[in-house]
Amino acid sequence: MSEQSENNHIVLEARGVTKHFAVRRTGRDLLAGKRRAVHAVDDVSLRLRRGTVTALVGESGSGKSTVARLLAQLYPLTSGEIHLGGQPVKAGRGRSFRSYVRRVQLIFQDPFASLNPVHTVRYHLTRALKIHGRAGSGEAELEKNLTALLNRVQLTPPHQYLDKFPHELSGGQRQRVAIARALGADPQVLLADEPVSMLDVSIRLGVLNLLKDLKDRLHLAILYITHDIASARYFADTTLVMYAGRIVEGGDSETVTQRPAHPYTQLLIASAPDPDRVVAEEEQEETGSGEPPSLIDPPAGCRFHPRCPKAMERCRTELPPRFDLADGQWAACWLYEGDGTARTDDHEKEAAK
Ligand SMILES: Nc1ncnc2c1ncn2[C@@H]1O[C@H](COP(=O)(O)OP(=O)(O)OP(=O)(O)O)[C@@H](O)[C@H]1O
Ligand SMILES: [Mg+2]
Repeated sequence: MSEQSENNHIVLEARGVTKHFAVRRTGRDLLAGKRRAVHAVDDVSLRLRRGTVTALVGESGSGKSTVARLLAQLYPLTSGEIHLGGQPVKAGRGRSFRSYVRRVQLIFQDPFASLNPVHTVRYHLTRALKIHGRAGSGEAELEKNLTALLNRVQLTPPHQYLDKFPHELSGGQRQRVAIARALGADPQVLLADEPVSMLDVSIRLGVLNLLKDLKDRLHLAILYITHDIASARYFADTTLVMYAGRIVEGGDSETVTQRPAHPYTQLLIASAPDPDRVVAEEEQEETGSGEPPSLIDPPAGCRFHPRCPKAMERCRTELPPRFDLADGQWAACWLYEGDGTARTDDHEKEAAK
């Protein structure tokens, strides 16, 4: 296999993944015989490739964490499929679930909550290595593996950190320990759900650079979930934009952030100042405002239409398919009907890449 095709290797894939959460029925629902659900994630297809960072960007409540949890097999899917290494993943517990978790690790926003305050760094990392059968045989080998993990996340010299408790570390150091623990499994995929949003601005870049380093050295496929589209440009190879449970635009990060096609992406960019990008004021004013819609009863047609300054009549009733634009960029927006090639089947579109 050439280096290029190896780098493009797809590790984890979501096909038409959907998650609806049942809402507790009220007396009125019972009388009307209604079942209501939060349409948290609808028909999401994405591919995570070896040695590549994919950003999933969107505002609060758009379904980003739900996508990460579905990919981590923490929730059953309402519909759709997940493929790991080309094989469909069956929901389940037991051995197959453990082997899945070994390959696909999740990192959370708040490292303080994900580390146990009564245990040391040594305990957390030893446990991860043992669970995944990577502790080695004997004390010396374990010590070597622990040291290697801390070196990998740049907590050096390792012996200064091994016997510390979480509260004795800074936020950035704690997140590095959480990353080291995930690496203890020797995974292929890291799902990083807002990994730096709780950290002080001054140390965010260090942690993002660490993830970038892991992508390059360990060829990990990384899903980077963020509110901050400007950081996606800096850090991710590919950017996907999510609105109200659906992915509305995708492409390489430079293109999506510099030439956003979907009116929602344009709104996100206009509200995230980027000194490199000069946007005319009138263009900024066009971007519209408002709140995300209810996901219990999402708008028909394009879910963004109530906020969209460019909405047309059909946007209110017809769900736009993905339209392919230049350079691998695509947008699910009727504005591009004339310019792009519509693909109603996302998997086919992805497969054609
Ligand atoms: N376990 C659950 N049960 C019911 N509804 C849920 C559950 N988890 C998430 N939701 C709902 O699904 C929608 C998407 O939530 P999700 O946490 O995935 O959004 P998000 O994009 O990660 O938001 P944020 O940026 O605030 O983290 C929200 O409306 C949320 O209330
Ligand atoms: Mg979230």
